[in-house]
Amino acid sequence: MKDVLLELQERRAEAKIGGGQKRIDVQHSRGKLTARERIATFLDDGAFEEFDMFVQHRCTDFGMEETKIPGDGVITGWGTVNGRKVFVFAKDFTVFGGSLSEAHAAKITKLQDMALRNRAPIIGFYDAGGARIQEGVAALGGYAEVFQRNILASGVIPQISVIMGPCAGGDVYSPAMTDFIFMVRDTSYMFVTGPDVVKTVTNETVTAEQLGGASIHTTKSSIADGAYENDVEALLQMRRLIDLLPLSNTSEVPEIDNFQPIDVPDKSLDLVIPDNANKPYDIKEVILKTIDEGDFFEIQATFAANIVCGFGRVEGRTVGFVANQPMVLAGVLDSDASRKAARFVRFCDCFGIPIVTFVDVPGFLPGTAQEYGGLIKHGAKLLFAYGEATVPKVTIITRKAYGGAYDVMASKHLRGDLNYAWPSAEIAVMGAKGAVEIIHRKDVGDPDKIAAHTKKYEERFLSPFVAAERGYIDEVIMPHSTRKRVATGLRLLREKNLTNPWKKHDNIPL
Ligand code: HXC
Repeated sequence: MKDVLLELQERRAEAKIGGGQKRIDVQHSRGKLTARERIATFLDDGAFEEFDMFVQHRCTDFGMEETKIPGDGVITGWGTVNGRKVFVFAKDFTVFGGSLSEAHAAKITKLQDMALRNRAPIIGFYDAGGARIQEGVAALGGYAEVFQRNILASGVIPQISVIMGPCAGGDVYSPAMTDFIFMVRDTSYMFVTGPDVVKTVTNETVTAEQLGGASIHTTKSSIADGAYENDVEALLQMRRLIDLLPLSNTSEVPEIDNFQPIDVPDKSLDLVIPDNANKPYDIKEVILKTIDEGDFFEIQATFAANIVCGFGRVEGRTVGFVANQPMVLAGVLDSDASRKAARFVRFCDCFGIPIVTFVDVPGFLPGTAQEYGGLIKHGAKLLFAYGEATVPKVTIITRKAYGGAYDVMASKHLRGDLNYAWPSAEIAVMGAKGAVEIIHRKDVGDPDKIAAHTKKYEERFLSPFVAAERGYIDEVIMPHSTRKRVATGLRLLREKNLTNPWKKHDNIPL
């Protein structure tokens, strides 16, 4: 018995050293943690339960039978984050560059199957060189097995990818089908084909960072939902995110029982809206004063910043926030903002997370760049996402709600459950200047007449009351009572029961 125990210990020690101390040192010298260190930092202390530690590849080509390393480049298992279960895999760059073999893929698919069956989130830490070149089509098949499971799990369990080193070729598409992708600045990059292939095919010269670093994917491509300074920060932020998410689409949102009271009016909100309607203010201030402890987890903060998306808690329960940001492009809806918010709304709807929407939007962005870029379809994505969502929807119009953007932003007509407006709301087809110049075109040369028409238009339409008279706004509320109104509204809607007609799936404009 003693010998067997010793053998187990030895085998475990061999597996834990992965590609060897020299490669671990290189990993550290690049400012990166090892796969095991990442898992240990992410999970609760001592909570990791590993699977398949002794799995090895079965490749016999190119001398591979001589080089077998237990674990085969990926570490898989499950554990807890603040006591809640989560499945986790981490690519081990010290073993064949973390490349994916048939056996490596089977470890991941086993984990995916378990996560789906046991209804808990799955998070992957990427640091890998793509398909194991020596395995050829066996590796390609392995990838597709992983992809298929990503697709089946989508909308059932949260799937999160964190890119912490190279992520190229076949490794990019699994993250792309997960709910969120996060990156580590300067040490991670993500692309389908690397700088050398790009040079050969298109004659462009780019570095890995310029092609697919965090700086690109969090600003230009919108592939990544956020980026962090280093591995430890990324892992701790992932714990924070997991704390906010339900385990699956049949679990309740998580609830914590410690939060500040809701019935303390915040008088500073009465002063947020500037006197001049063209002056911006920071909508994040309104979000932070609505949620518990001002604790906001923002998604895609540096992409399409004219719309803000993220998670917070109200009375200890997770809520998704979507808000036009007057500080950026006056909060206008363009293609990027529409796509960003549509995906966020759909994530919340998949997982039963109520949505609170703050509206201050002058409309959709005009121009050839937007129209040629497909604004109609992208705008329709957000419209579609809000319209199909059956989770509780609370909407607060703080200032402008003009034109089609009024409809899109979780209006009453798209089954908004509680639609509130601040007294400063202006709900109209368009602003006064544009409206008067169209309906009183013949008076455009006469400043007195235009001024009189403008005043009349402003008095009639630039308020919440025309909409409130029709019941499109349930109530005009005092800004200082916003947190309380949102909290009591969400309490009311906790047992909301709404389903859409049966369909195989919808056909959202892509
Ligand atoms: C087998 C690999 C490998 C791979 C790296 N290694 N990538 N082994 N298959 N795909 C091995 C290296 O041989 C090396 O082994 C060790 O991992 C570390 O790699 P280095 O190159 O020394 O590291 P570094 O200089 O940091 O460069 C990392 C890298 C580079 C940029 C990721 O290794 C690289 O370009 N790899 C190949 C990337 C690639 O083209 N992958 C295939 C994509 S095609 P030793 O023993 O020397 O230390 C693909 C198609 C799937 O994925 C499509 C499905 C849809």
